[in-house]
Amino acid sequence: MVTVNLNLEIDEKKVAEILKDIARDKMGGWFELPKKYDMGEFAKIKEVAKKIQDESEYLVCIGIGGSYLGHRALIEALRPKSATKIIYAGNSLSRKELDFALEKVGDHDFSVNVISKSGTTLEPAIAFSEFKKKLIEKYGEEAANERIYATTDAKVGALHDEAVANNWVRFVVPDNIGGRYSVLTAVGLLPLAVAGIDVDKLLEGAASAVEEAVLPAAKYAFMRYALGKKNYDTEVFASFEPATRYFNEWLKQLFGESEGKNKQGIFPAAVIYSTDLHSLGQFMQDGRRNLFETIINYPTDELNMKVVQAVKVAHAEGGIPVLDIGVSSYDEKGFGELIYFFELACAVSAKLFGVNPFDQPGVEAYKNELKKLMAEG
Ligand code: PA5
Repeated sequence: MVTVNLNLEIDEKKVAEILKDIARDKMGGWFELPKKYDMGEFAKIKEVAKKIQDESEYLVCIGIGGSYLGHRALIEALRPKSATKIIYAGNSLSRKELDFALEKVGDHDFSVNVISKSGTTLEPAIAFSEFKKKLIEKYGEEAANERIYATTDAKVGALHDEAVANNWVRFVVPDNIGGRYSVLTAVGLLPLAVAGIDVDKLLEGAASAVEEAVLPAAKYAFMRYALGKKNYDTEVFASFEPATRYFNEWLKQLFGESEGKNKQGIFPAAVIYSTDLHSLGQFMQDGRRNLFETIINYPTDELNMKVVQAVKVAHAEGGIPVLDIGVSSYDEKGFGELIYFFELACAVSAKLFGVNPFDQPGVEAYKNELKKLMAEG
């Protein structure tokens, strides 16, 4: 179970109202997902993962934002040992990165999981067209179609239509679950299963958090809201395990996109200690006091634990409010709990700030501007 070190009274009536609100929201499908998982879909994910493992040395996961950060976070953190390696593409518009991914696949056997809820996002669309070309060149059109797995909307979008036309195996991003809350759907579960992550344990962890996380998540949300209102406008997530760098990235997206609207929210930043104590440590200790620190306390070795203790004391003395989130185990179950805890805390927190946790009008604004520029040539 995820723990928080806060001795804080919360308004339980308000929490109950917010939870009801989330459960009723048309984008609140993640709220009970771990308890109501579609087992037919789950079985299909495992079956397809096995097929990909049998025939491919690489699975190229193409997607951006919520369509890749969650599964990348877990794969990097847990370092699973499947012989099929995961490669990421379509998460930037850098030609160098795309060429690097194409070269890495080289002549190896590979499959592609293209993930886009809207099916129209530019970054994955460009990368996908290159990898599709490579698949066709290597295997011919018919066999290439058997190596493409599309995770997208059930009914609409360019990717959906292309998948139907070419008979690709499809997985659905549920209508009522947005990108950054989708890691426990096929968006995350297919790449995770291929990588060798125990997805049963992951969902088990998340399911146990559905009830257990409510109180700690609400406490944490109320605390960060109170700090935000006192002009602590930046939250620094601090981890002491370098392999969790992408979990920090997932957190930044989750909180940034959910909360940063109507001129509200707390800016999410992240550090890895002790590494970053030698770059950002000075600022944390003695710089401008507009930030608070949320330590994600993964079970770790004895020496690293001493660093955790030293940081807590030193930063508190330096005038930084330090929150401490305890992770029960460094494995699939622990991360399942942690994902659900943060999703819930983030949604509650955004509601306290009076913003919609589930839309992202700012991201759409950038996408539309870029489309206009591309059309101008
Ligand atoms: O959380 C979100 O909704 C966004 O970050 C999306 O995941 C991201 O923009 C990618 O969108 P799509 O999956 O439609 O390609």
